[in-house]
Amino acid sequence: MSSVVVLGCQWGDEGKGKIVDYLAAEADYVVRYQGGCNAGHTIKVGNETYRLRLLPSGVLQRKKLVIGNGVVVDPEVLLKEIEDLKAKGFDPDLSLSDRAHVTLSYHRLLDAAEENFKGSLRAGATMKGIGPTYSDKVARYGIRTSDLLDPDILEQKISQNALLKEKMLNLVYGVSAQITKEELLATCRRFGEALQNYIVDTSIVINNALDEGKRVLFEGAQGLLLDIDHGVYPFGTSSNTVAGAVCTGTGVGPTRIDEILGVVKAYTSRVGAGPLPTELTDETGRRLQEKGKEFGTVTGRRRRCGWLDGVALRYASRINGLTGIALTKLATLGGFDPVTICVDYQVDGKTVSEQPSSIRVFSKCIPVYEEMAGWPDLNEVEWASIASHGYAALPEETKSYVKRIEGITRTKVKIISVGESRDATITTTNVWKS
Ligand code: GDP
Ligand code: IMO
Ligand code: MG
Repeated sequence: MSSVVVLGCQWGDEGKGKIVDYLAAEADYVVRYQGGCNAGHTIKVGNETYRLRLLPSGVLQRKKLVIGNGVVVDPEVLLKEIEDLKAKGFDPDLSLSDRAHVTLSYHRLLDAAEENFKGSLRAGATMKGIGPTYSDKVARYGIRTSDLLDPDILEQKISQNALLKEKMLNLVYGVSAQITKEELLATCRRFGEALQNYIVDTSIVINNALDEGKRVLFEGAQGLLLDIDHGVYPFGTSSNTVAGAVCTGTGVGPTRIDEILGVVKAYTSRVGAGPLPTELTDETGRRLQEKGKEFGTVTGRRRRCGWLDGVALRYASRINGLTGIALTKLATLGGFDPVTICVDYQVDGKTVSEQPSSIRVFSKCIPVYEEMAGWPDLNEVEWASIASHGYAALPEETKSYVKRIEGITRTKVKIISVGESRDATITTTNVWKS
C-alpha cells in the first residue's frame, strides 16, 4: 500500500494537474476528493493540451479514476468531459461516489445572484454553482448522485428545491427566474441514466485498493489560501482544500495517508478577488503573467501575478503537514534578475510571520523581500535537456532558490518542474513508500 496526496499550497493553479499526470504513471488509482468543475487542470502530452475540470488527472495515463464524496459534480460537465476524452481515444475507467452532491442549473443562477449581492466582498467566483451546491449540502437540501437513481426521493427533493430556489432568486435576490419542477426532474432522470454505471460506494473501492497494496494518488483542487477555513475568507472557495479534506472527501482514514506533496508555483498567481500581498502591478508583474501564460483555465481571466510568498508557504507546510514539495514553473523565472521572495510581512511597522485571519490586517500586509541571483532564460529544449540530466544539471542560482524554499518551509523539494511536458520534470526523491 502506498498513497500520495498532491495539493495546492497557494491560490490554485500551481500545476497540480501536471504533477498528478506525471506521478500517475506509477499509480493505480487517481482520486479527486473536493471542489468541482471550478477546477481547471491543464496537462500537456506531446502536442496536445487537455483541460480537466472533474475527471482526475490520471485519465491520460489510463488509470482507474475515482470521484469521491467530497466533490460537487455537475453531471452536464462530467458527461461532456467523458465524451470529449472518448473522442480522443481515452475511455475513462471511473467510479463516482454515491454520496457526491450534484450541481444543477439553479445553483449556477444562485452563484451569480449571490456574487452580485456581495459587492466588494465577492470572491470573483467561477460561476459554476460551487458555493450554492456546498451550501445546500451543509443545509441538508442537497441532491446526491444516488438520489438521481431513486425516483421517490428525487421527486421530494426536487419539489422542495424548485419552490425554495425560485423564491430565493425572485424574492431575495430580485432575479426573475422560473424554476420548473418537471424540467428539473427530467434533467435529473437523464443524468441518473447516463451516470448509473459509474455510481458506487467509492470509500470501499479506495480502501480495497489500499488493502490490495495498490498505489493511490489523491488529487487536490484549488489551493490552501482558497480553503473555506484556512484560506483568505471570504475570498476563497467553499470546500476544504487542505490535506485533511482527503479523509472526509473520500472515506479513507488518516492512518492510510503516506505522503503529502504540496505543489508550489515558483511565483504567485491568483485569479479572482481579495488581498494578495506580493502582487506586482508593474512591468515585472506583466512579464510574469505573459511569460507564465497566466490565464484562468476555466474562465479565461488574466491571473494576477507577483513574487513567491514565503509566509504562505510556511503556512501551507504547517496546515497540511507537508512531507514534500513539487516546485513548478522554475523555468518561467529564468531571465528575472534578481528573483525575489517574500519572507515576512510588515503591518503598522511590526513584523508578521504568520498568516493573519483578518482580511483587514491581511490587506495591510507589506512584504519583506529577500533578493536572490537570477538564472538564465533558457529555451524549452535546453530545460528539457537539463531535466534529463537531473537536479545536478540545474543552474547553481536555481538550486539556491530551491534550497531557500526548503529552508522557509522546512520541507524537501522532491519534484521540480521546468516545463509543461512530462519530460521537463526532475524527481529528486521518490514519493511512493512501496
Ligand atoms: P492546476 O489547476 O494546479 O492543475 O494548474 P493549471 O493547469 O490551472 O495551471 C498551471 C499551468 O502551468 C498549466 O497550463 C500547466 O501546463 C503549466 N505548467 C505546470 N508546470 C509547469 C512548468 O514547470 N513550466 C511551465 N512553463 N508550465 C507549467
Ligand atoms: P484549480 O483546481 C484558481 C477561485 C475563484 C474565486 C474563488 C471562489 O484549477 O487550482 P468558486 O467558483 O470556487 O466559488 O470561486 O476561488 N478559484 C480558483 N482559483 N484555481 C482554481 O482551481 C480555483 N477554483 C476556484 O477564482 O476567487
Ligand atoms: Mg487550474
